[in-house]
Amino acid sequence: MNLTLKIWRQKDAKSQGKIVDYQISGIEGDMSFLEMLDVLNEDLINKGEEPVVFDHDCREGICGACSLQINGEPHGPDRLITTCQLHMRKFNDGDTIYIEPFRAKAFPVVKDLMVDRSAFDRIQQAGGYVSVNTSGNTIDANAIPIEKENADDAFAAATCIGCGACVAACKNASAMLFTSAKVSQFALLPQGQVEATERVLAMVNQMDEEGFGNCTNTGACEIECPKGISLENIARMNREYLKASLKG
Ligand code: SF4
Ligand code: FES
Repeated sequence: MNLTLKIWRQKDAKSQGKIVDYQISGIEGDMSFLEMLDVLNEDLINKGEEPVVFDHDCREGICGACSLQINGEPHGPDRLITTCQLHMRKFNDGDTIYIEPFRAKAFPVVKDLMVDRSAFDRIQQAGGYVSVNTSGNTIDANAIPIEKENADDAFAAATCIGCGACVAACKNASAMLFTSAKVSQFALLPQGQVEATERVLAMVNQMDEEGFGNCTNTGACEIECPKGISLENIARMNREYLKASLKG
């Protein structure tokens, strides 16, 4: 395949970025999207030009690092996959592909296609944990019976990889789907009840402080989420927040 790539290039957080055109050839359908960018970068390095900076780590849909806006969609045209799992067979010879970083005030561009998503880490640090009493009286977690439905929903919420596609998909750059997944994975389990009140208040507060917008109720986040995190988590977080506010 021969392709035209229109890629966002930005020197650093303070510089103004712009779209730069690149022609690329010899791309196979079995290559992943990131392998296609590797080919481009090898070409650029061979020509003595600066390679395009983009985030990646596991390249198997686990870490959430590969945050790319491809033709206007977070993680590209396929559903329920990350950018690293997207294959070039989804595109046709002669296509033009726009590649941009995830756009959100709370995700400032570091360089080119790489954004700083440490705002997510700070939301997690605000309450996304359980305390464990290691006094010697600790009960084995498996000894506590949990309803199958709750266990399944908690597990599904815990599959959120913190990629930020939900934020990039939302016209308000809301982090409600991410935060609600992190709240829900504990809210549904008995082990999560000890800090339940403080957790939801602290995580929502941190989410607001980071500059994420309000939920638009359009559901774009759920559609673009590579892990299929359900909007039900947002409804659950709102209920948890209301309960905690009334207690406080
Ligand atoms: S909710 Fe989905 S889109 Fe948002 S960070 Fe988690 S995995 Fe990514
Ligand atoms: S590189 Fe880890 S999810 Fe894509």
